Amino acid sequence: MSDRRAFLTFLAASPLFAGIPAMLEAFAQESTLATAEAALDVFDFEAAARKVVPPAHWGYMATGVDGEDTLRANREGFTRYQLRTRRFVDVSRIDLSTELFGMKLASPIVLCPVGGQKAFHAEGEIAAARAAKTKGHLQILSTQSSSSVEDVIKARGGPIWFQLYTTNNFDVTTRLVKRAEAAGCPVVAVTVDLPAGRNTETATRLRQLDTRICANCHTVGPSGNPQGGLNTRAMFAGINTQGLAINSSSLTWDFIKRLKDVTKMKVVIKGLETREDAVLAVDNGADGIVVSNHGGRATETGRATIEALPEVVQAVAGRIPVLVDGGVRRGTDVFKALALGASAVGIGRPYIWGLSAFGQQGVERVLDIVNSELRLAMVGCGTRSLKEITSASIIDTGRRG
Ligand code: FNR
Repeated sequence: MSDRRAFLTFLAASPLFAGIPAMLEAFAQESTLATAEAALDVFDFEAAARKVVPPAHWGYMATGVDGEDTLRANREGFTRYQLRTRRFVDVSRIDLSTELFGMKLASPIVLCPVGGQKAFHAEGEIAAARAAKTKGHLQILSTQSSSSVEDVIKARGGPIWFQLYTTNNFDVTTRLVKRAEAAGCPVVAVTVDLPAGRNTETATRLRQLDTRICANCHTVGPSGNPQGGLNTRAMFAGINTQGLAINSSSLTWDFIKRLKDVTKMKVVIKGLETREDAVLAVDNGADGIVVSNHGGRATETGRATIEALPEVVQAVAGRIPVLVDGGVRRGTDVFKALALGASAVGIGRPYIWGLSAFGQQGVERVLDIVNSELRLAMVGCGTRSLKEITSASIIDTGRRG
């Protein structure tokens, strides 16, 4: 194996073969990370995670919907924006810290809610919480979490946000919300981008490739979630899940008022992308918005969230915080989102890659990498704090590069 790697290294370095992408790709696939510290960027973790996560679980994580145009758009959207450097600014001190709803955070980078994390690492959301604690980040816990909100808050050693799937039964929804509130969550993030199913083709294909019998380890849900039915999920313990659906297709804006009537938590809506919905969200009492297309896993819009962000920010006009997620892989992506008016920026798959490969240490290293890339972007653009990152820090070229 090492001979083969040495041979590939030699070939890749040789002028005779320089620029042969297939060769470099083969080399990349050969390489394995010995430690989390050895990773240079988050993609190193993607390659490492691919080696340890079984095909069905990998498919659940990697999948977009339909032909995955939206998944690709989320990445490509960032190429539309360029950074504007500034010189002769004293950048010897760079401050990444911020505050959201009174919660002090070391960085604007947020761990997005990702369901069933024990499908990727035995410690799942607990490992992510420990990493969020050591690095001072906000973590949002999925309704479909494989660990309970109480355990995750304990591991985080402080508040987290609870992500709510609305379900089709308001009594159950109320129980979930009250439990999260009692556990200490200051904010509930209601995900609204999956009202009635989706076509996760890649997940289906990879599940078919997996030769293991899923039912040997867990029950299998209709949506193909690796950990299966709702009754196996920590937040549904003691709840009758017969006939229960995670989402409701008949939901309308009055849901926000209903929700506010049963909780004191701030209500953030996750999964809006248009100025019309942004205005309605504010009018209906939302306390915040996450511009999100579920990481290209909901509607096949072909639209990048980074390209949807400006119209939402404009419509909200500073009245409530706007967060964004989708395709964020580099500190420069975070910088661009902040320049376009985001208050904080979510990452999903990157920390799951880190978690899969190295547990807590992997998540910590992912956060370190993206934070240090962000710091370098801030240095280069002469912006010493998040406040100094403004629309003047970037150029919108109007086309994806
Ligand atoms: C998600 N996402 C998600 N969102 C949510 O509100 N509740 C959930 O339970 C989940 N579960 C989930 C599982 C997996 C495997 C993925 C990849 C994503 C969406 C997530 O919160 C976020 O919006 C995206 O992951 C952001 O895009 P990137 O960073 O993955 O490109």
